[in-house]
Amino acid sequence: MSQETVLVTGGAGFIGSNFVPYFLEAFPQYHVVNLDKLTYAGNLNNLKECEDNPRYTFIHGNICDAELVNKLFAKHDIRHVFHFAAESHVDNSIKGPLPFIKTNIEGTFTLLEAARNHWMSAPGQV
Ligand SMILES: NC(=O)c1ccc[n+]([C@@H]2O[C@H](COP(=O)([O-])OP(=O)(O)OC[C@H]3O[C@@H](n4cnc5c(N)ncnc54)[C@H](O)[C@@H]3O)[C@@H](O)[C@H]2O)c1
Repeated sequence: MSQETVLVTGGAGFIGSNFVPYFLEAFPQYHVVNLDKLTYAGNLNNLKECEDNPRYTFIHGNICDAELVNKLFAKHDIRHVFHFAAESHVDNSIKGPLPFIKTNIEGTFTLLEAARNHWMSAPGQV
């Protein structure tokens, strides 16, 4: 069976760490690359069951890192993205809004740009 790779961001967070094991089991034709910065909200202990799965790869990194994100798109020919990486606790934004701007806006834009660049230059695109 041919294998496609999906990119999951924030896979070590609350939603992502439930999503990744579910997805690996439900969709055996896919490889999962989990890109997570491991902030206070990310915990790899929640993904222990996936560690040895040959269809699972963890990348410790930041979605704002355009070079890294572009490399992942190119290396794995990413066609699908599940974007959970975020600063998600609104209370924190009152004391320190900058990480929210960086991750939620700049990081999301970085992912969209990487997808646009990669997918628009894929064979068959005009
Ligand atoms: N939890 C909920 O009930 C809920 C409900 C509706 C929508 N959402 C949305 O779903 C998304 C995920 O929510 P969650 O509860 O899993 O959040 P979370 O805070 O538990 O997890 C966020 C994950 O993103 C990672 N992360 C943060 N900044 C990063 C960066 N710059 N680069 C890479 N990884 C980074 C963290 O390490 C963490 O693993 C958020 O957008 C949230 O607003 C959550």
